[in-house]
Amino acid sequence: MRANSMHQRLIDRAKHAKSRAYAPYSGFRVGAAILTENGRITEGCNVENGSYSLTICAERNAIFSAITKGQGRFRAIAITSDSDAFLPPCGACMQVLSEFNPALEIILTTSDGRHKISSLDKLFPMQANLKNLARTEIKEMR
Ligand code: THU
Repeated sequence: MRANSMHQRLIDRAKHAKSRAYAPYSGFRVGAAILTENGRITEGCNVENGSYSLTICAERNAIFSAITKGQGRFRAIAITSDSDAFLPPCGACMQVLSEFNPALEIILTTSDGRHKISSLDKLFPMQANLKNLARTEIKEMR
């Protein structure tokens, strides 16, 4: 699919977010921009930490920040890095994104200007969400 002007705007905002990345450990900067159904865009970058596992990815920063602003109905996310390979969201980010839109449009980019348009339900078809997480009754221990 060709990038339309909305995709291009989202990619540009993801690149802007990437410029804010804090990645002194990996040197791998990532930027994401998430779009709501009513056209609002929120950016996120990766933020690393000296306690490595506390690092947060650009995609989760973008969606958490959007939720904090009161946004909730998401249409698309663009992700960009300095790599010449397409970078999909990691599994943890896909799980988090799926909470809010299991079929979110995902715009992947490369540093040499290519892009690919996919969707969350294609990249991550089995999602643990409110529909398939059975609520179990807590039984008294004997
Ligand atoms: N990272 C992201 O921000 N998003 C991804 O989709 C994959 C990885 C970050 C985490 C870490 O700061 C760096 O990239 C290297 O893994």
